[in-house]
Amino acid sequence: MCGIVGYIGTKEAYPILIKGLKRLEYRGYDSAGVALIGENQHLNVYKAKGKVSELEDFALQKDTSGNIGIAHTRWATHGEPCSANAHPHYSSSESLALIHNGIIENYSVLKDKLQSKGFAFKSTTDTEVLVQLIEYIKQTNNLDLLTAVQLALKEVIGAYAIAVLEKDNPDTIIAARKSSPLVVGVGNDEMFLASDATPIVEYTDQVVYLKDEEIAVLKKGEPLKIVDLHNVEITPEVKTVVLSLGQLEKGGYPHFMLKEIFEQPDCIFDCMRGRINVESDNITLSAVIDHKDKLLNAKRFIIVACGTSWHAALIGKQLIENFCRIPVEVEYASEFRYRNPVIDSNDVVIAISQSGETADTLAAIELAKSKGAFIYGICNSVGSSIPRVTDTGSYIHVGPEIGVASTKAFTGQVTVLAMLALTLAKEKQTIDKNEYLSIVKELSSIPEKMKDVLELNGEIAELSKIFTYAHNFIYLGRGFLFPVALEGALKLKEISYIHAEGYPAAEMKHGPIALIDAEMPVVVIATHNALYEKVLSNIQEIKARKGKVIAIVNKGDNVISKIADYCIELPTTIECLDPLITTIPLQLLAYHIAACKGLDVDQPRNLAKSVTVE
Ligand code: AGP
Repeated sequence: MCGIVGYIGTKEAYPILIKGLKRLEYRGYDSAGVALIGENQHLNVYKAKGKVSELEDFALQKDTSGNIGIAHTRWATHGEPCSANAHPHYSSSESLALIHNGIIENYSVLKDKLQSKGFAFKSTTDTEVLVQLIEYIKQTNNLDLLTAVQLALKEVIGAYAIAVLEKDNPDTIIAARKSSPLVVGVGNDEMFLASDATPIVEYTDQVVYLKDEEIAVLKKGEPLKIVDLHNVEITPEVKTVVLSLGQLEKGGYPHFMLKEIFEQPDCIFDCMRGRINVESDNITLSAVIDHKDKLLNAKRFIIVACGTSWHAALIGKQLIENFCRIPVEVEYASEFRYRNPVIDSNDVVIAISQSGETADTLAAIELAKSKGAFIYGICNSVGSSIPRVTDTGSYIHVGPEIGVASTKAFTGQVTVLAMLALTLAKEKQTIDKNEYLSIVKELSSIPEKMKDVLELNGEIAELSKIFTYAHNFIYLGRGFLFPVALEGALKLKEISYIHAEGYPAAEMKHGPIALIDAEMPVVVIATHNALYEKVLSNIQEIKARKGKVIAIVNKGDNVISKIADYCIELPTTIECLDPLITTIPLQLLAYHIAACKGLDVDQPRNLAKSVTVE
C-alpha cells in the first residue's frame, strides 16, 4: 500500500519520479504528490487527489526543477483521500518534507505531545506526526537530519518506509524502513529509491533491499551509506535485479489484467522450467532437497495466506493431504496471527504471497517462527520481505503482476503447490509410481491446454455482455473446484463491483438456494470428475428455480449443455490439476464484465495490490 519513489543525481528528478509513481500506482491511487528541491533552493511540494495524472495536471505550471526529489502515491489508512492528506507532508517550518508507507500506531500520543509544544497540523494523517516529530527533535537538540530521524524512529511504534528531504541539505535524501519495503537503486552518479524495483530497472539493475530498522543516506557524489538506528554502519548488499521493461508494459493489451491472463501458459511453463524434467517425468524442487528431513518429518502443515493466495492454499491442502497423507490446515494470516494457535517445531508453515509484502502474512510468519515452526515461502516477487524471513521456499516465477486482481500468480501458486505435494509424496512413498508419473506428465501439458482455453476469449467476451446488468452472482464448485468458485467470485467482486459468493455446490441447499430466481446468474464449475453427477443435480435444482446457469464443462459434454443456459467448454485434465484450467474462464468472465461496464480494471476502487498494513 502506497508507493514511494526518490531520485538524487544529475538528471531532472521530476520526470523520473512521475514515471516511477506510474509504475507503483498499483500500490495505491487515491492521491499523489512530489517534493523537489528546485534550482531556487526552495523545497517545493505539489500534491493532488486522485491518480498520478491529476498530479501531473496540477504541476503543469509549477516549478518542477531540481535533481533531487521524493514522490508518493497513496492508499489511505489514516485520513480520507484528499489533497491535504496526500504525501509529501511538510514539517511546520516547511524545511522538511516526508513520504511514508505504513502506519504509525502511536501517532495520537505523539500528536498530543507535539500539539502541546505548539505544533499545528494541516492533515489528519499519522505521517504528518512523524515529520513534525523529526523537526521537533532536530530543532530542540540542534541535530543533523540523520540523527533526528534516528531518534524519531526510536519513538515510533508501527510500520514505515519513509524518505525525507531537507531544504537546507539539498544533496541528501534520508530513507528508512521497518516492515514496509524499500529498495535503493545504485547507478552512475545517481541513486534511486522505491517501494519495489519496478521504477528503478530502467536506469540500473544494481539494487539494495533495505532491512528492518536500516536507514539509507543517499548523498550526491558519495556512495550509498547504510546505518541502523544506533548509527552503526552496515555494508550495503548490492544485488542484481532481473526484470525487463517489457514485463512492466501492457504490451498492446488494453489492461494489465488481460495481459496477465494471457501470459499464463508461458508463466506456468516458466514456473516448471528446471523443476520438471519432461524426459524422466520427474520433479526437482531445490527447497525439498535442501530441507528433506524437516519437510518429510513434519507432523502437520499449516498454510497461511490472504485473498487469492488463500484460495490457492485451499487447493494446496487438498493436494498435500491427498498425495502425502499429512494433515494440512489453512488459515487466514490475519486471523492466525491473533489467535494463539497451537503450533510447535514439528509443524511446517507454508506462507503464500504474490507480493511477498502482505503485512498479515508477514506477522503470521513471525508468530509461527517464535513458536519454533519451520517456514516455507511460496512467493512471486523476488527479493521481497517474505522470502527473506522464511527458512526456505519456492518462487513461482510468473513475472511482475501489476493488475490489482491477481490472476497468473494464482495459477503459479497452484502449480508450485502441486509440484511440492508430488515431490513430498514421492519421497514419502505415499503415491503410486504410475500415478506420480501420469500427474507429472499432465502437469507439463497444462501450458498447452491453457492456450486452448484462451482461444475462448472472444466467446466469453460476448457472453459477458449479457451479465453486465447483474447485481449478484453465485459460483459453485466441489472438491478441488470449490476454491476455484471462491476465486471466480473474488475476481468478479474486485473489479466489477458485482456482489458474488462462492460455495461448495452441495452447500447450496443449506441456504444460498433461497437467493435463486430468474435474475440470478450461477456459474457452476462442472467438469468431468468424481462428483460430476452430484453437481449435475445441483444444476437441476437451480434450473427448477429459474436461475441462469453458466456451466464450465469439458469439451463434448452433451448432458449439461442441454440444461445449462450457457456452456463454456474446456479441455480435459486430471481432477487435481483442473483448477489450473477452470480458473481461466472465470478470470476472463470477470475481466470482460468489468471492461464492458467501463470500469478501471487494473486499479479498482478502494483496493491496492500489496496490502502492507493490517
Ligand atoms: C486478489 O485479486 C487480491 N487483490 C488480493 O486478495 C490478494 O490476493 C491478497 O491481498 C494477498 O496478496 P499477496 O498474495 O500479495 O500476499
